[in-house]
Amino acid sequence: MKAVQVTRFGEPGVLALTELPDPAPGPGQVAIDVTHAAVGLIDAYIRQGLYKGRDGLPQPPYVPGLEVAGTVRALGEGVTGFAPGEKVVALSSGDGRGGYASVFLADQAHVVSTEGHAIDPALAVAVIPNALMAHVALTSAIHISAGESVLVHGALGALAAAFPGIARQLGASRVVGTVRTERMGAAAATKLPYDTVVDSARLPEALDGEKFDVIVDPVGGLVRTQSLDLLAPSGRLLLVGNASGDWNHGGIDGNRVWYGNFTVTGFNAGGYLPAHPRTFAPAARAALQAATDGLADVEIETFPLADAATAHHRLEHHSANGRVVLTV
Ligand SMILES: NC(=O)c1ccc[n+]([C@@H]2O[C@H](COP(=O)([O-])OP(=O)(O)OC[C@H]3O[C@@H](n4cnc5c(N)ncnc54)[C@H](OP(=O)(O)O)[C@@H]3O)[C@@H](O)[C@H]2O)c1
Repeated sequence: MKAVQVTRFGEPGVLALTELPDPAPGPGQVAIDVTHAAVGLIDAYIRQGLYKGRDGLPQPPYVPGLEVAGTVRALGEGVTGFAPGEKVVALSSGDGRGGYASVFLADQAHVVSTEGHAIDPALAVAVIPNALMAHVALTSAIHISAGESVLVHGALGALAAAFPGIARQLGASRVVGTVRTERMGAAAATKLPYDTVVDSARLPEALDGEKFDVIVDPVGGLVRTQSLDLLAPSGRLLLVGNASGDWNHGGIDGNRVWYGNFTVTGFNAGGYLPAHPRTFAPAARAALQAATDGLADVEIETFPLADAATAHHRLEHHSANGRVVLTV
C-alpha cells in the first residue's frame, strides 16, 4: 500500500511517501480502502515530537492520521454488521498505523457506516469524527441541558466547528463563537450554526456582558484565562486543547472557580472513548445526522497524499482554508 510515514520527529519534511505491505485485518478489525484522511493539529504536534516518549503515542517510523473515510475492503474474524464496499468513516486508536495510507485497519467499534447517506467523503471525514467527539464531550463530560447557552473559542477550527451543530441538536438556546481578528471575514461567511461570532481580541466587551452556561476551549492561553469572566453562575468550562500553543498563560484561578460555583472539565477523546465504549454509537448517530443536516458545513482544503508535508505546513502556519484533508 501507499503510505506516508513520519521518519523521525521534526519539521513537515520528515513526512515521506513510501510503500508498505498491505495489512490484513485481525480479529475484530475492519480493513478500509482509504479515499480521504483528515489532518489534525494533533498530527502535527505528535510529528514535532511534542509528546515524545509519552505512553501510547507512536514513535518514528510511524504512519500518522487519526481519521479516514473510504470503503470496507475486508472484515477480520468475528466482525459483523459491515459489508465489503460499504462506505465508512473510521477513527484510529492512535497506535501509529494511521490514516495517511491507502489501506487502514480500524477496530470495528470505531467504524461508522455512511452508506445510504448523501454525504461527500471529504466532508464526512472532516466532520463526523469531530462531531462524534463533540457529542460525547457535551453529553458525558458537560451534561448539557436543553436551553443552555454555549460559547466556542477558535470557532472555525476543526474540532471547534463540530460543537455548534451538536449543541443545537442537544437543544442549546444560543451558540456564540470567538475567533481571532484576522478570521472575522471567514467567520462572517461561515455556514456553521452560530448565532454570532465575535473577535476574541475584543473580549469581554465584544459580548456586551453576555455570560454562558458552557464554554468550549480548544485554544488555551489568554482566552482560557478570560473564560471565567464569561461564565454564568454555575457555568462549566470545557478544556479540549491548546491550539494557541501558549503554554505560559491559560492558568485557572481556583478561588474564582469555587466562588462562582464553576466547573472546569477536561475532555480527551483518545483516552475517553476507549474507557467509555458505550458513548460511541449514540455519538456516531448524532454526528452523522449533524453532517447530513448541514449543521457542520466547514470549508475543506484537499491535498494529495504525497503532499502531506505541505498540508502540515499549512495547518501549522494557520494558512489553510478550513479543514485539511488528504486524498489518497
Ligand atoms: N480533546 C480532544 O479529544 C481533541 C480532539 C481533537 C483535537 N484536539 C485539540 O484541539 C486543538 C485544536 O485542534 P484542531 O485540529 O481543531 O486545530 P485547528 O483546526 O488548527 O483549529 C485551531 C483553532 O484555534 C485557533 N487558534 C490558534 N491559535 C490561536 C490563538 N492564539 N488565539 C485564538 N485562536 C487561536 C485557530 O485559529 P485560526 O483559524 O486563525 O488559525 C483555529 O481556529 C488542538 O490542541 C488539538 O490537539 C483535542
